[in-house]
Amino acid sequence: MERKNIKKLAVFVSGSGTNLENLADRIQKGELRNCKIELVVSDNPRALALKRIQRFNLESKVFERKSFNSKAEFEAVIVGSLKEKRIDYVVLAGFMRILSPDFIKAYRWRVVNIHPALLPEFPGAHAIQDAWSAQAKETGATVHFVDEGVDTGAVILQKKVMVDTGETLESLERKVHTVEYEIYPQAIQWLVDEKLKVVNGKVVNLCAEEKYKGGKKV
Ligand code: GRF
Repeated sequence: MERKNIKKLAVFVSGSGTNLENLADRIQKGELRNCKIELVVSDNPRALALKRIQRFNLESKVFERKSFNSKAEFEAVIVGSLKEKRIDYVVLAGFMRILSPDFIKAYRWRVVNIHPALLPEFPGAHAIQDAWSAQAKETGATVHFVDEGVDTGAVILQKKVMVDTGETLESLERKVHTVEYEIYPQAIQWLVDEKLKVVNGKVVNLCAEEKYKGGKKV
């Protein structure tokens, strides 16, 4: 019998965890294939994300920064857990910390993030609010590789949303999150199926824009 190469993901969270929940749900339904969430890492013991995943029976570990003497020690312990679990990819889903260059080096092209704006527009921690306050006509969401900068890594996939007349911050948040739940699983599918190459700092997608689901074009 053919053995599938199931890639192991570690999903890093700090807060609400709706992207984590969406990924776990898609994997459970077989819509995101060839991978499993091997570990959830939270830097916040009170993260709602940890409650959301109870129904999925996933292993989670909490690492509080304040329990360590330095950022280097904090990250070294996390990397130790990732190595022990033979994690293939690190998926940041609302993880509110900047990973150090050493961490990025250890997982080069294997750390991805979702950002709630069309990068390079509106980087930083309040992207939806910033787009709304700036009265942008459009914004969106971006999945990108994580590099040593903040929200500067090579873009894998972006999707736009229009900011309509009379849009409230809350309605814009809902729109942006809805596209996040669509593009993050798609980008992760390409990643685990090794359909992404980075050439001169730009992502080359071997599936181009075709709709692609776990080893199959659809
Ligand atoms: C998302 O908007 C994501 O783009 C950003 O943080 C938010 C996390 O939301 N990086 P959730 O915790 O997945 O609900």
